[in-house]
Amino acid sequence: MATEKNNIPYKIYLAEDEMPKAWYNVRADMKTKPAPLLNPGTGAPMGFDDLRPVFCDELIKQELDNDTAYIPIPQEIRDFYKMYRPSPLVRAYCLEEKLQTPAKIYYKFEGNNTSGSHKLNSAIAQAYYAKQQGLKGVTTETGAGQWGTALSMACAYLGLDCKVYMVKVSYEQKPFRREVMRTYGASVTPSPSMETNIGKAILAEHPGTTGSLGCAISEAVEVATSTPGYRYVLGSVLNQVLLHQSVIGLETKAALDKYGIVPDIIIGCAGGGSNLGGLISPFMGEKLRGEKDYRIIAVEPASCPSFTRGKFAYDFCDTGKVCPLAKMYTLGSGFIPSPNHAGGLRYHGMSSILSQLYHDGYMEATSVEQTKVFEAAEMFARVEGILPAPESSHAIRVAIDEALKCKETGEEKTIVFGLTGTGYFDMVAYEKFHNGEMSDYIPTDAELEASFASLPKVPGQE
Ligand SMILES: Cc1ncc(COP(=O)(O)O)c(C=O)c1O
Repeated sequence: MATEKNNIPYKIYLAEDEMPKAWYNVRADMKTKPAPLLNPGTGAPMGFDDLRPVFCDELIKQELDNDTAYIPIPQEIRDFYKMYRPSPLVRAYCLEEKLQTPAKIYYKFEGNNTSGSHKLNSAIAQAYYAKQQGLKGVTTETGAGQWGTALSMACAYLGLDCKVYMVKVSYEQKPFRREVMRTYGASVTPSPSMETNIGKAILAEHPGTTGSLGCAISEAVEVATSTPGYRYVLGSVLNQVLLHQSVIGLETKAALDKYGIVPDIIIGCAGGGSNLGGLISPFMGEKLRGEKDYRIIAVEPASCPSFTRGKFAYDFCDTGKVCPLAKMYTLGSGFIPSPNHAGGLRYHGMSSILSQLYHDGYMEATSVEQTKVFEAAEMFARVEGILPAPESSHAIRVAIDEALKCKETGEEKTIVFGLTGTGYFDMVAYEKFHNGEMSDYIPTDAELEASFASLPKVPGQE
């Protein structure tokens, strides 16, 4: 196995005191700010008081703050981060050798904590602010189970109750993920459930449904708003989550700067946009300020193509239509993707920040089919040793494709991608792939049109 070439270590580690002391808020540098959340009843922008029944106070302030560039990370959160951060930036020497490419490939590895993914970066922050506010507990949804696991860990650490609504298909396919959450003390309910009004309504309309993130969000919000001392927390999409995830990008930039490395291409998978938003934030800041230019690529599954085939419109964040409206690239809140194995990428919408940046031409997006994703995952595991999460493997696929293009042209581009997590709980998906039982369902235009028909009518939106 390669260790070191040209004085660039195999793994670039930052020292503990080089870990970011503040999160970076990319909105401060955006000329066109992300559109505000709207009240679904009145269509009016939602302010602090409107959001208080749902979210924690400090997190609402972060959600609404489009102007403060750096927000200090409280010491208690930094202390928790120190258990698994700074995370390594790894030079994929073995992958480069396998591909015989002149490209230089780096990945920022966020799977080196017990929860197994980047989600812990925001989970601990959100749990911390809930605890500060004196709350008893939080509710949330989880798809693949990574966010639920991370939040359960953070809540156990801080002594908060945690109620997780897990998309039914994942609940059934991933019993071990569920048990990890219960080990950390969370209660886990398959969604849609008969525990909430919205769950009952969804089940009445779609009996036998395997659920979706949109359904699970509706249930978690209903429980938070009807249980005293509880608030709802979300693992992606929201501005506050991208803010917390900026630690990924800030560390990546610091590590690259340390060795004078300038990336040409930055790649991340995109579910609701939190890891990608975090990874690219300081690079995007430079781009927005006109200081540097980078190619930034969002990768999504062909089965749930919000950026590449969605509409930029106000839409509900959930199936039950109880959440605020967000302006984003969306497939329609009723869209239920085919049972793709990257559960964390099966969300109908996308972060408003990334949607605005994509709309304004600051980044690209592409979609990939899951068998191609698993081919890339397997190649990566064999040469680099890490067994990647299906979600992360979307970024691996496109990093490999870009490196192969460099092989054709002879260009020595530097490619950085986000390796958001490990896939040890995704072995049913790997098994399907190995047995040749994995399909690549791509929604038809007619299916998407039917879903767009349910977009809410908002004044000023065509
Ligand atoms: C390992 C992993 N990567 C990526 C994602 C996608 O989420 P986001 O777009 O918020 O980073 C998820 C979501 O569950 C995940 O578990």
